[in-house]
Amino acid sequence: MSGHPDIDALVEEARSAVASARTTEDIRAVAASVTGKKSPVAEASRSLGTLDPDQRRERGRALHEARAAIEALVEERRSTITAEERASQLEADRIDLTEYIAGTTPGPAGRGRPHLVTQTRDELEDVFVGMGFEVAEGPEIETDWFNFGALNIPPPHPARGMWDTFYLDLGVPESTLLRTHTSPVQIHLMEAAVSTGGLPIHAVMPGRCYRRDTPDARHLPVFHQIEGLVVDEGITFADLAGTIEVFTTAYFGPDIHSRLRPAYFPFTEPSAEFEVTCTICHGEGCRTCSQTGWIELGGCGMVDPAVFEAVGIDTERWSGFAFGFGIDRCAQMRHQIADLRALTENDIRFLRQF
Ligand code: FA5
Repeated sequence: MSGHPDIDALVEEARSAVASARTTEDIRAVAASVTGKKSPVAEASRSLGTLDPDQRRERGRALHEARAAIEALVEERRSTITAEERASQLEADRIDLTEYIAGTTPGPAGRGRPHLVTQTRDELEDVFVGMGFEVAEGPEIETDWFNFGALNIPPPHPARGMWDTFYLDLGVPESTLLRTHTSPVQIHLMEAAVSTGGLPIHAVMPGRCYRRDTPDARHLPVFHQIEGLVVDEGITFADLAGTIEVFTTAYFGPDIHSRLRPAYFPFTEPSAEFEVTCTICHGEGCRTCSQTGWIELGGCGMVDPAVFEAVGIDTERWSGFAFGFGIDRCAQMRHQIADLRALTENDIRFLRQF
């Protein structure tokens, strides 16, 4: 029957055409050739009209089943091809992050690095560790007692105005706050030392601080300090001055000028402010240093006996000094950053320089 080819043979031909398809393109073309308008099944269906009614019905049903079988073969092959192509695309797109971390492959946007403030914190820690200090940390959420009370700043003390405080709405009003400085960590260390017999103390305590300060060239509402505390026998102001001098030379190099100016802090007596020549204008006076030629990096002084009494340290035997420097300010002066706000703007072109 030349006009009526064998239906099983049609299905077998379609089967081998389908099996030879390798890609989505192939299977699309094969699908058109085995089930489309010009396919052998379609041709065979068109020639049904030349058969008598019984043969037509029987062959029509067989052709219908053959077409369904061929379509199923196409669909099966299509879904296998799709899965294979997806798997090989995933394999091609695979990024081995361990290679970026190991630095063996440059990342799409270059390798990341710690933020300048983190680098500065690490360097400052290294300087003080080199001088025999240990590194400690304390909480950023504090009670009024640690941030103020134990530091000789009772509630009505006018010195509270020195720190514009963010209070947390928890329990008694103004009892819980975001620490305004790292000095409360002094209290945690001294209390722990008293209860464990851990004196003397030689420690630095870096960390984040919060103040309702309006951002400007020297101030951020969230900034970082590194606190220092030494409690030992026979400590004098000369030890404090010597420590600051060694620190300044180690961190800024020998060319920077620094000075201590008398100041007031309720938790140290005597107290001083530690300043360096403004590195933006080299002491000439500019917007960054408010035309003074100097930038304040921190405060320091001899631990006030009232603080020792608050934590139960015997002032007959022990004396000590403390300091608190701005980490962001140290970075600002070391790297001549005219406006401190650049540190938080996340401009990659700026951050990449360090
Ligand atoms: C204090 O916070 C005292 N706790 C320092 C201290 C510690 C004195 C131990 C004595 C003994 P002051 O408020 O001056 O002091 O802040 C110290 C330093 O923190 C400043 O000199 C500055 O470098 C940095 N600092 C303070 N406020 C900000 C701010 N808003 N943005 C960036 N840095 C700041």
